[in-house]
Amino acid sequence: MTPDPAATAPVPPRTPGDDADWWRQAVVYQVYPRSFADSDGDGLGDLRGVTSRIPHLRSLGVDAVWLSPFYPSALADGGYDVDDYRAVDPRLGTLEDFDAMAAALHAAGIRLIVDIVPNHSSNRHAWFREALAAPPGSPARDRYLFRDGGGPDGSLPPSDWQSVFGGPAWTRVTEPDGTPGQWYLHLFAAEQPDLNWDNPEVRQDFLTTLRFWADRGVDGFRVDVAHALAKDLTEPLPSAAEIADAAHGTHPLWDRDEVHAIYTEWREVLDSYTPPRTAVAEAWVHASRRARYAVPGGLGQAFNFDLLQADWDAKQFRTVVTDNLAQAAESGASSTWVLSNHDVVRHATRYGLPPGGGRHGQGQDGVDWLLTGGTSPVLDAELGLRRARAATLLMLALPGSAYLYQGEELGLHEVADIPADRRQDPTFFRSGGTEVGRDGCRVPLPWTADGPSFGFGDGPAHLPQPAWFAALAADVQERDPHATLTLYREALAWRRRLQGPEELEWVEGSGEGVLHLRRPGGWQSVTNFGPEPVDLPPGILAVASGPLEDGRLPADTTAWLV
Ligand code: GLC
Repeated sequence: MTPDPAATAPVPPRTPGDDADWWRQAVVYQVYPRSFADSDGDGLGDLRGVTSRIPHLRSLGVDAVWLSPFYPSALADGGYDVDDYRAVDPRLGTLEDFDAMAAALHAAGIRLIVDIVPNHSSNRHAWFREALAAPPGSPARDRYLFRDGGGPDGSLPPSDWQSVFGGPAWTRVTEPDGTPGQWYLHLFAAEQPDLNWDNPEVRQDFLTTLRFWADRGVDGFRVDVAHALAKDLTEPLPSAAEIADAAHGTHPLWDRDEVHAIYTEWREVLDSYTPPRTAVAEAWVHASRRARYAVPGGLGQAFNFDLLQADWDAKQFRTVVTDNLAQAAESGASSTWVLSNHDVVRHATRYGLPPGGGRHGQGQDGVDWLLTGGTSPVLDAELGLRRARAATLLMLALPGSAYLYQGEELGLHEVADIPADRRQDPTFFRSGGTEVGRDGCRVPLPWTADGPSFGFGDGPAHLPQPAWFAALAADVQERDPHATLTLYREALAWRRRLQGPEELEWVEGSGEGVLHLRRPGGWQSVTNFGPEPVDLPPGILAVASGPLEDGRLPADTTAWLV
């Protein structure tokens, strides 16, 4: 791989210290490791690849990396099907590589958050193999959610529940004697059997896993599907229709109140470290329920996905910001802002589609779960990127922590045209292809304009990269003052300089399509969602998401004034 030219950029060192509040306004960069950088040319990104690109992260100016699963996995769900929670996938490296990566990140002043996947293991996990070899009713089966089937011969699933990825949420096993047997619950793919969180051994083992990574210097955890662990499978099981409109806290599968007892236990472990290890819940729950996950005695922070579900609309953005700051005040956590991640259509693409575009799939609680769908002929790529840059600059002006997803700093769009035979996302297969799935935002990054996989590695990448990646490669943007990469770097540098208390004041009077906010110290951010240029308030321009027009702020542009 060609060395990153950003390695030479002068950046003041920032060593992580013992500040227990480091996460409150941190900029966290999500690395999806299999698609970030490939050090050995096998087409899959790996941990040494991450280490090799730390100069990029450092020159970008992020405070932390969130590493998506890097554990041994058959990749039935991109690594969210974990075979062993306390090991590294050999294709991605070794525990020594992990330690070296963590040390190098820390030396660069960047903290490390790892993904933990407690709702389900993979079907290759030692526990699940043991469960399959053991008889019904055995302690080995009790670590999962096995039930007898319905009908005279047990050939019907125990209920008609559907998995989030499509198709039934139950799969029947073959008993050790070769006869058709019990069914197990999987809220996601069949390769992801749900664990039984009423089982004390399951609970203990995850505490061991938390300690294992915290002892290795991990600074925090991102908790996958945090709202699903507690379940009520009291029989007779209700039908999907019966639970469709369950009141909050009463759904047998999602967001049950008992789940918080688990996180109280986790918090004790996390708080036994100095500084306390952080945790952020991935919980697609109703806004009114989010604070329960975010309280200091619980996980401590919870994602809000409201911004990434909002259209490019001043009113919607303002409501999302106001509501989430109020919720943060209620829980005591800081808010979390996200525009893109590995589960949704990249925001540059979403904003180039008609309102609501790129949005598919309803999840539990009526919350949009996946924003899939890829691009369509109506995509206006230029408009999308322009708005994405403006949205990012607005997001970075907000109090709280901001989560960036790898490649958004290059202004990448969703890759829409992945051939069916190259697709990997179980959503695609389980929906019979009606949902294209999430591969389009997981295509390996372009680091250089040429090379077999645009500098990702020395061989072809595991998902096909489009020709248009060349123009957006990191090394091309390095030389361009107007590049999206340059904007991100400037914005993060200004943010670090200007950051003050977690307060925000709206400034009224700029017109309907304009959001104007002020942060302590007089830092202001103005976003023009409307079609016509608007005047900027007095102040010195620090950074703008696009060029001004005769000193005025054009449509779909954000500017920061100091
Ligand atoms: C989370 C992850 C997603 C994964 C699912 C099942 O939502 O973000 O990628 O497919 O959980 O683990």
